Amino acid sequence: MRKLVLLSRKGGTGKTTLSVNLAVAAMAEGYSVSVADLDLQGSAGSWAQARGGAAPDVRPANGGTLFPLANDAERAGRDLLIMDTPAGGDAISSAAIRLADLAVLVSRPSYFDLAALVPAAQAVREAGRPAMVVLNQAPSRRAGVESPIIARAVEAARVLGFPIATVGLRARVAFQESLWRGQGVLEFEPRGAAAAEIARLWSDVADTLWPERIEHRGAAE
Ligand SMILES: Nc1ncnc2c1ncn2[C@@H]1O[C@H](COP(=O)(O)OP(=O)(O)OP(=O)(O)O)[C@@H](O)[C@H]1O
Ligand SMILES: [Mg+2]
Repeated sequence: MRKLVLLSRKGGTGKTTLSVNLAVAAMAEGYSVSVADLDLQGSAGSWAQARGGAAPDVRPANGGTLFPLANDAERAGRDLLIMDTPAGGDAISSAAIRLADLAVLVSRPSYFDLAALVPAAQAVREAGRPAMVVLNQAPSRRAGVESPIIARAVEAARVLGFPIATVGLRARVAFQESLWRGQGVLEFEPRGAAAAEIARLWSDVADTLWPERIEHRGAAE
């Protein structure tokens, strides 16, 4: 079983939105998924409750229960454990970082968000874990022109010393509407732009967690 942690010290960057959307993307490819909801707000849990049909196994957890939960998930034959962390919760996050095979550092493309990501990146580096940075809630192009804050954010994100995901996610209504139904954007609007972004992000994440996917693709080409 591979373990993925979504991190940011700031609230509202999109950790839970990406956790549930990556869970849906993984399930669509046949992976069996558990989600450890480390946030007392229980957002991932309420998303799963709103969901009809097959759902990832979402369990509330804290720093103390995370290890047994991960063991249970492994024994239950899960392929992937996604750990959704709370904003700020440094002790909880460090327990999750220690377990993780990959950390996804989530940030809006804003100065405050990126600055707040520095300690999270540092904690991941100290734990010797691989990570990638994902910019979320980026503004859309206006008349075909990219907002200058995106280039600035990418430049700032490079300073964190981890690769930046090959896709940035825009602020899109589909990311919000889908949550009301307990869906991921891949289910809500399979041909939409949000779905395309999540598919690319999942591919980046999955190729990092299971490098053999890349080899298999290479052999098939
Ligand atoms: N790409 C996006 N486009 C539009 N809305 C988004 C996007 N990503 C997240 N949101 C919205 O932003 C809000 C915060 O997202 P979310 O709850 O996933 O963040 P979080 O990092 O988990 O927050 P917290 O730190 O409180 O746990 C939610 O209302 C969510 O629907
Ligand atoms: Mg959250």
